[in-house]
Amino acid sequence: MSDQKVRFGVIGTGGMGSGHCNHMNQVPGAELTAVCDIDPDTLAAVSAKHEVPAFAQPELLLDSGLVDAVVIATPHYFHPPIAVEAFSRGIHVLSEKPIGVTVSAADQMIAAAEASGCKFGVMYQMRSLGSTKLAKRLIDDGRLGELYRTSMVLGWYRSQAYYNSGGWRATWTGEGGGVLINQAPHFLDLFAYLGGMPVKMTGSTRTRIHDIEVEDEAYAMLEYASGAHGYLYATTTESPSYEQFEFCGNKGKIQIQNGAIRFWETKGGIREHSQAATQMWEVPESPEVALEIPEGQGRHIEITENFVRAILYGEELLSPGRDGLMAVELIDGLIMAGQTGEPVTLPVDRARYDTVIAGLQSRSKEKAEVNAQRVTDPHHTA
Ligand SMILES: NC(=O)c1ccc[n+]([C@@H]2O[C@H](COP(=O)([O-])OP(=O)(O)OC[C@H]3O[C@@H](n4cnc5c(N)ncnc54)[C@H](O)[C@@H]3O)[C@@H](O)[C@H]2O)c1
Repeated sequence: MSDQKVRFGVIGTGGMGSGHCNHMNQVPGAELTAVCDIDPDTLAAVSAKHEVPAFAQPELLLDSGLVDAVVIATPHYFHPPIAVEAFSRGIHVLSEKPIGVTVSAADQMIAAAEASGCKFGVMYQMRSLGSTKLAKRLIDDGRLGELYRTSMVLGWYRSQAYYNSGGWRATWTGEGGGVLINQAPHFLDLFAYLGGMPVKMTGSTRTRIHDIEVEDEAYAMLEYASGAHGYLYATTTESPSYEQFEFCGNKGKIQIQNGAIRFWETKGGIREHSQAATQMWEVPESPEVALEIPEGQGRHIEITENFVRAILYGEELLSPGRDGLMAVELIDGLIMAGQTGEPVTLPVDRARYDTVIAGLQSRSKEKAEVNAQRVTDPHHTA
């Protein structure tokens, strides 16, 4: 650390990684000191722009002595092995989402982080949204009571040109899944962060409109240990975009629709009303509660700022790497349910999923058409 500044390297400087490079020097207590990419042109351009040393391989950057922390923004399969190398050198890691493709690789990453004592964060920037913070507080304060039902719908759009923009995208060998592993992780993370983890799922995946080998649509029915039921759906075949969460309990209901949060409260509880009501059509009163939304815009830089304060001052991580496992459990579980047609219990059977993904990888084909572009979603740039 130089004068209480965390020196950052960014590994993988394509669409998202170059965004991290652009905002790093705006983060109090952080400075960009090195970059790494296996593509020489991408690397040369970002190194020249930010006037920092360039490394053609992650290990060279990690051994350079120039960094205290790294952001890993390579394709997902590389997140765990690079993170494990970083932790073994005492270097803090902020991983892009998802933390890994398989639960077994994610386990290794978490174990390496814990053994090293380093900070491990994951870029789930939607955790910094005011609506997320408020929903979390309401749920943690018990305002929903016993949870009865959850739901998540993610209806997004991606063009074939998007899928053709990288050889790794939407392939079993390069990406390890489709909408579930690429677009849905932010939403799956919030779904589990707010509603908890289910213990069982039945589900289905399919490729509906795109020329890709992985799924562009997936849905699951969920069971929770508490007895609650849930539903989740994710697709890249829908326009306009639609994003929705619902968490419904005995005492209240939260809905987050396209980022806008609403909360209804049933004083006394639904179960209690049901027992006490004497009139056939009596219903409990469930008025909508006026909400004051805390600050937070869901920007990447907010997660990076929190990560830096965690390193410098021990602040609690808003998006700990360990929590990144939840989305991977849901992704792998649903891909396995889709592939086998059988119900899946969670946590996912590690060995079984490794076999499932190995089978899919063995049938994976190189893409016929690639028009390489390293441009991140303009809605997601910091
Ligand atoms: N948090 C978010 O909102 C968000 C948004 C977009 C992408 N992402 C994540 O960022 C990651 C990268 O996505 P992208 O859209 O920037 O992809 P991209 O293809 O634009 O960039 C990936 C870069 O990594 C480089 N690379 C590949 N293997 C490498 C290796 N072993 N070592 C070093 N560099 C390597 C490639 O050359 C490329 O420049 C993915 O995991 C994705 O899920 C997160």
